[in-house]
Amino acid sequence: ESRIEPGGNLRASWEALLKGARKCTRCDLYKHATQTVFGEGPLNASIMFVGEQPGDQEDLAGRPFVGPAGLLFDAALEKAGIDRSTTYVTNAVKHFKFVPRGKKRIHSKPGAGEIEACRWWIEHERELIRPPVTVALGATAAHSLFGKTMAIGKNRGVPLQLADGSECWITVHPSFLLRIPEEDRRREERALFVRDLKRIKDRA
Ligand code: URA
Repeated sequence: ESRIEPGGNLRASWEALLKGARKCTRCDLYKHATQTVFGEGPLNASIMFVGEQPGDQEDLAGRPFVGPAGLLFDAALEKAGIDRSTTYVTNAVKHFKFVPRGKKRIHSKPGAGEIEACRWWIEHERELIRPPVTVALGATAAHSLFGKTMAIGKNRGVPLQLADGSECWITVHPSFLLRIPEEDRRREERALFVRDLKRIKDRA
């Protein structure tokens, strides 16, 4: 068992990693973002959730999934019976990528180069935390974790294996659920997301 309880060396290593991430210049996104949004949660978490990148509110708050997608995520976790505070939540890309439009900052999808540059951080987070179960929220997270494009529809709802042998699940991104215009379909898709989370909970 290589996972160490928080309070030992593990915490110091994670804090050193965080300190480095705050000064990251591995890609250009740091130039316009407010700050690095690193992962958070107990270092002995048995589930690691991986999102895409911080959004506008996360960029300002410095914490992952605290904006509209985060609220939906929290509600779905609650429905599935997962206590977020027992999980580690992070993103594939740790700086907000956006295009300014008037006073607004419009989310822009990270490219393969940015995902690749930022893999350095998530791989080190994973090395320290060693979660038995990892969850890719959407295609960017899946790309980062598997190192290649993974179709969501074909791969969701079943346990997959990462290169380190640990279990990984792919499901949709909460933002996708926010964008579905049609109410019935939105309700259906949210229920499928909760179903995925329940299955994941039973494995962790
Ligand atoms: N979307 C993400 O992928 N991550 C966040 O932290 C917020 C929104």
